Amino acid sequence: MGVAVRPQDFKGEEAKLILSQFNSITAENVMKMGPIHPIENKFYWKDADEIVDFAQKNKLKVRGHALCWHAQTPRWLYVDQEGKTVSKDVLLKRLENHIDSVVTRYKGKIYAYDVVNEAIDDGQNTYRKSKLYEIAGEDFIAKSFEYAHKADPKAVLFYNDYNTEIPAKREKIYTMLKSLLAKGVPIHGVGLQAHWSINSPTREELEKSIEMFSSLGLQIQFTELDVSVYAGRQGGQLSNGSRKIEEAVFTPEMEQQQLEKYQMIFEVFRKYKKNITGVTFWNLSDKYSWLDGRGRKNYPLLFDKELKPKKAYNAVINF
Ligand code: XIL
Repeated sequence: MGVAVRPQDFKGEEAKLILSQFNSITAENVMKMGPIHPIENKFYWKDADEIVDFAQKNKLKVRGHALCWHAQTPRWLYVDQEGKTVSKDVLLKRLENHIDSVVTRYKGKIYAYDVVNEAIDDGQNTYRKSKLYEIAGEDFIAKSFEYAHKADPKAVLFYNDYNTEIPAKREKIYTMLKSLLAKGVPIHGVGLQAHWSINSPTREELEKSIEMFSSLGLQIQFTELDVSVYAGRQGGQLSNGSRKIEEAVFTPEMEQQQLEKYQMIFEVFRKYKKNITGVTFWNLSDKYSWLDGRGRKNYPLLFDKELKPKKAYNAVINF
């Protein structure tokens, strides 16, 4: 059981909660390329080191997140000194240098990585039309895994994405993973982000995803679990409009729906425990969640604003 953290979570009550409930941590932001590698020849290690040091001191595992992602990348990555877009060769060299530096620094301390994050498109295209894809085509995906594997052959390497329970996207991810495996690319697992909500996914959708990805021989981790109390999915699916933006109270109805969703989710996790090697929550408690930044307070986690277990927590642990 893991949790996404920020260096400021290592003080006081938050630290106690992390240590009493979790045995793995992930950096919510500080290991992403933008924060950790802001200038081509300069790394900013301080915050990421703090995460790894806290884990070492307290015997927690660390999942590295994320080596290659289209978002939160530094500006220098794609352009030369004149501001012109770089060639595929240059981009891949830069990516290799980045991945090699991070993975080498934390060798033996970070056991698994989200190597490539969110490369598949939500719409009609197969691949997301990101700057990475524009410059390097789909090759940046296989290459990223190769660079990570070379730097630490023991690290468990994941492809990570969201909306993995939506049939069309699931199918595209499955096909990509299958072809990467057929080419011998060192990929060991698939990370299903699990940014879910009170109305999705269904049990059937979730089970189908686990079965399909497991059939490739990959291990599965749920890497960014939260259950939004508002209807809708990440990635722009329509909400049913039943709740107004300004409504920011954690109502008894939300509490009940969320509890039931969490209960279902963990029933499925237990059913497929042979296939699932980790579950990481995206943030620690309802005091702070990345979902708050969307114009309304959310209550997506198992601990409340006072860091106390919610009813959903009890529903999850009592079975
Ligand atoms: C989010 C962080 O939680 C936010 O603080 C940040 O502003 C944006 O990124 N998918 C991912 C995560 O893989 O890295 C994202 O984290 C959430 C969606």
